[in-house]
Amino acid sequence: MDRILVTGGLGFIGSHTVVELQNEGFEVVIIDNLSNSSLNVLEGITAITGKTPIFEKLDLRDKAAVQDFFLKYNNVTGVIHFAASKAVGESVQEPLMYYENNLNTLIYLLQELAVKPDSNFIFSSSCTVYGQADEMPITESAPIIAAESPYGNTKQIGEEIIKDTCKVKPNLNAIALRYFNPIGAHQTAKIGELPMGVPQNLVPFITQTGAGLRDSLLVFGDDYPTSDGTCIRDYIHVVDLAKAHVVALKRLLNKKNTTNYETFNIGTGVGSSVLEVINSFERVSNKNLNYQIADRREGDVISAYADTTKANNELGWKAQSTLDEAMLSAWMWEQRIRNL
Ligand code: WQD
Repeated sequence: MDRILVTGGLGFIGSHTVVELQNEGFEVVIIDNLSNSSLNVLEGITAITGKTPIFEKLDLRDKAAVQDFFLKYNNVTGVIHFAASKAVGESVQEPLMYYENNLNTLIYLLQELAVKPDSNFIFSSSCTVYGQADEMPITESAPIIAAESPYGNTKQIGEEIIKDTCKVKPNLNAIALRYFNPIGAHQTAKIGELPMGVPQNLVPFITQTGAGLRDSLLVFGDDYPTSDGTCIRDYIHVVDLAKAHVVALKRLLNKKNTTNYETFNIGTGVGSSVLEVINSFERVSNKNLNYQIADRREGDVISAYADTTKANNELGWKAQSTLDEAMLSAWMWEQRIRNL
């Protein structure tokens, strides 16, 4: 049985990916420093699959600790790397924290993988690397535009670090998955997006407003050149996203990759406006959402949704859930954690 390391495996996307890896028969080792997650998530994973992953509390900024980990777990056949800070606004205020946490950790991992005879590495990247793309839907060959935030910069630089390493290390096989907007929760509502403070992202803010934790949602601008004036994004169910990681990992384990560094856009291929997401929530929850139109948010792109042809054809992967199904799963999760 392949043993897979999942860094940040107690996080939102990481935990859902651990579940799908276990469902596919992989043994999972999780590294997490618990800075943005909790051990309750480990219980949630076990409750879903009946299998408890190995857990190592470890901060990947500690180079010696990373080296010790790979001495102890020298039979890891694949690594899926989620552990990183991901709040765009926070990264503007704390650039050095973001560059250290998102890049040093990547470098220390790659230093260990680069010396192994056969390494398989999946990197958590983001559509944010495209900035405001000129053409919709966005393909993997769209230009990489200078990031508006240190967070976005760490994803662009991270991809460059991996690409440059793969050029001189044919034994390192890597895939960068460029996520669009992950939303929702596992259908059991035993794992989901853990709210830490005031949500920065749209969907958790909507479900918290629906649950009465927030008075109302502010819609950041309705004067954009879109169908209803609000920004458009590609909202993908987190379980669909998790399954994409398993498919990408298998591609590398089975040596089906065409080069040793590949990128794939992981989205639904459908763009939805903020108002359409609000309407979806109202349909699935049968509640009226309290919201106001506010000023635009600095740094927001007008529109970003994926061309998923490459992932569909080469990975054999396609998102299965609709926006309503994803929103319902987010609402079920919100109700469970609020005991509603
Ligand atoms: C979506 C839309 C907002 C909150 C970011 C990162 C991306 C990834 C996902 C980490 C925008 C609007 C939001 C609110 C609103 N993060 N909005 N009121 O900005 O597309 O992507 O999160 O991997 O890398 O860039 O997602 O959910 O913050 O915003 O009107 O209270 O919802 O203006 O149009 P975003 P988001």
